[in-house]
Amino acid sequence: QSCSSYWASVQSESIADITRHMFWPGTVPDGYFWATATASYQIEGAWNRNGKGESMWDHYAHMLGAYEGDEACKSYDYYARDVEMHEEMGLNSYRFSISWTRILPDGTVAGGINQDGIDYYNNLINELLSKGIIPYISLYHWDGPQALQEKYGAWLNEAIIEDFNNYARVCFQAFGDRVKHWVTFNEPWSFVMGGYGLAGAPPGIWDHNKTEMYKAAHNVIRAHARAYHTYDEEFRAEQQGACGIVIGALWSEPRDPNNPQDVLGAQLYRDFVMGWFADPIYGDGNYPQRMRDIIAGFSQEEGWPQSRLPAFTEEEIQYNRGTADFVGLNQYSARLIYASDDPGMVDENGWFNWLALMVPDMKGYKETVDPTWPKGKMIFLRVTPWAVRKQLDYFRRTYQNDGPFYLTESGISEAPFEPPKFDDVWRECYYMLYTNEIVKAIELDGVDHQGFFAWTLMDNVEWGSGLHERFGLYYTNFSDPARTRIPKDSVATYREIATSNGFPL
Ligand code: NOJ
Repeated sequence: QSCSSYWASVQSESIADITRHMFWPGTVPDGYFWATATASYQIEGAWNRNGKGESMWDHYAHMLGAYEGDEACKSYDYYARDVEMHEEMGLNSYRFSISWTRILPDGTVAGGINQDGIDYYNNLINELLSKGIIPYISLYHWDGPQALQEKYGAWLNEAIIEDFNNYARVCFQAFGDRVKHWVTFNEPWSFVMGGYGLAGAPPGIWDHNKTEMYKAAHNVIRAHARAYHTYDEEFRAEQQGACGIVIGALWSEPRDPNNPQDVLGAQLYRDFVMGWFADPIYGDGNYPQRMRDIIAGFSQEEGWPQSRLPAFTEEEIQYNRGTADFVGLNQYSARLIYASDDPGMVDENGWFNWLALMVPDMKGYKETVDPTWPKGKMIFLRVTPWAVRKQLDYFRRTYQNDGPFYLTESGISEAPFEPPKFDDVWRECYYMLYTNEIVKAIELDGVDHQGFFAWTLMDNVEWGSGLHERFGLYYTNFSDPARTRIPKDSVATYREIATSNGFPL
């Protein structure tokens, strides 16, 4: 893999030297969550065992002839080892997701609760708590029920709001006595665009008319608000926990900060990618004004009777507002945005203009990256730790929100090596750089930041990329039926950061 000269230079120094030369010395408050994150489909396996129903990802992967997710890391069997790995790293929290169809095989409460699923998550939660590790649970990390897809088109149908709410209630009821951190959805933008826009995730829709992604997102936001209110009204008083959402926070900058069109482009990208979900929940309850205006304008030009972006009623706007007790941001990378009508799809740096596919209503703009930003294996991700503080600052200013903030995912991948490679110096540097930005955010900017979740605990199934992107702190041996997990060098580094609460002098 082509590492930049930056990585080459840091590799020649010892970790201690790098820390001394480049890092802001400082610590996070006691009780800060040092954690990892995973998702059910990516690690559990046992896709159809002991009563589990088929998920949309099981179905979609099988349709493509991909079977890695069937067994994945076998965490269904080896969850105790996962907990032990957190202990080995000195961590105090673990973010994982519940597989909807392990709890409700056909997606509905009427279809029956699968006791084995309840038992599995109870065992995991109890094992964690017995080791002093706090569970942090996502209800929806993309593996929705295939039965609901077949019944009514899943997120395209508002009927899913009720079913999701019933599922959430079952989880609050079953686990809420011990679980105090609930995430409704993980990165809605990713699964909505992937599944209902770009045909890169289930149900695999290529949104030719640019309508389905907006419809799906509309129902996701309403489902989030509904489940939040359920927690608030039925469980909060007794359980005293928090409920929120995790937003994929790809940062954007103008390519030329002196060009007002580029500046506007970077702002529009934030509106379309993050604000789409953040404004209804953390802002005034509605979609960003600029986004509404642009889509309404294009819709009119295209001859639609009304905007392709569905409208919230006044009542829904009130209902959406303020439906999060914390801010979860997944933060990996950044983009440079610029105004351009050039139809070419690849720029002089070889960067593909993903924006045209991922934000199709941002006509007249393109994205690129600075070629000096270091890369990981995954093409989308460039190493941009400085974006962490900019994002937090933006979020605080835009939504007048003082947190608490969690960095709910961040990490870097490598290609599968043969023989396996454990000296992942790029990951050590990555985690040092990103966590040090958090220390700066806390100490220099006064941000109420309460947790960092490394993506990810161990090499796992990276969705459509299967086993070809390895994001793990631990190496997973997929040829071994026991799925042995072996620490890479970054385990010791992350442990050092976590157990010293950052970078003390
Ligand atoms: C974000 C997603 O939440 C996670 O599931 C995925 O594996 C990572 N990004 C890396 O792509």
